[in-house]
Amino acid sequence: MNIILLGPPGAGKGTQAARLEADRGMVQLSTGDMLRQAVRDGTPVGLKAKAIMEAGELVSDAIVSALIGERLDAIGDQGAIFDGFPRTRAQAEALDLLLSERGRKLDHVIELQVDEDALVERITGRFSCANCGAPYHDKYKLPKVAGTCDVCGGHDFKRRPDDNETTVRTRMAEYRAKTAPILPYYEERGLVRKVDGMAPVEEVAAAIDAILGQ
Ligand code: AP5
Repeated sequence: MNIILLGPPGAGKGTQAARLEADRGMVQLSTGDMLRQAVRDGTPVGLKAKAIMEAGELVSDAIVSALIGERLDAIGDQGAIFDGFPRTRAQAEALDLLLSERGRKLDHVIELQVDEDALVERITGRFSCANCGAPYHDKYKLPKVAGTCDVCGGHDFKRRPDDNETTVRTRMAEYRAKTAPILPYYEERGLVRKVDGMAPVEEVAAAIDAILGQ
C-alpha cells in the first residue's frame, strides 16, 4: 500500500507516519527529514536547501523528487508513507511517474484537517532528544524527569531552526498557496480521505486505521 499524508505544518503528518511505520511495516518517506539530514551532512543538496528551509520556503521540485525516487528504489516491496511530499502540482505529477515506473500505485491521500491557529503553538513548543530523536512539547509532553529523555536518558535536546513563529507563518502560507491546490488533482481520482487532525493523536490514528483497514 502507498499513501500520502497531506496537511499543513504541524498537522501531525510525522507523528502519524512514525506510528504507521512501527505498526504496519510501511516506510516513512519524509522529504523534510531527508533534507535535514542532507543539511547536517553538508551535501550539495543540503547546502542548497539550508537557507530555503530556514526561511520556510519550498526547496526545488527537482531536488525533492530525486530524493523520493532514490528512497523508493531502496525500500523494495514495502509500502510507502509519503510525509511532506508532494507539495506542488509538479511534485504530484512527478510522484505519479515515479510510482508507475516502479509498478506501484497510490491507494489513499489522507488529508489531516486542522485549525491553523492551533498549529503555531504545536510547532513552536516542540523539541526532541538530540540523541534518539524522541519528540517532546513544552506544554503537552515534557520529559518525566526534567532535562532527561524518557527513552534514552540523554540530557541534550534540540529544536528545529524553522520552528519559530515567523517561519511557521511562511510555511503555512506556502502550504495554502502551493500545496492545498493539489487536492483537486487527487479528488478527481477519488483518492482523498479527510481526517480531523485536531482530535487527540490516538483518535487520529484510529481514523487512519479505519481508512487503511487491517
Ligand atoms: P517538513 O519537515 O515536511 O515540515 P512540515 O510539513 O512543515 O511539517 P512538520 O514536520 O512541521 O509537521 P507535521 O505535520 O509532521 O507534524 P508533527 O507530527 O511533527 O518540511 C520542512 C521544510 O523542508 C519545508 O518548510 C521546506 O522548506 C522543506 N521541504 C520538505 N519537503 C519538501 C517538499 N516536498 N518540497 C519542497 N520543500 C520541502 O506534529 C507537530 C507537533 O504537534 C508535535 O509536537 C506533535 O507531538 C504534536 N501533535 C501531532 N499530532 C497531534 C494531535 N493530534 N494533537 C495534539 N498534538 C499533536
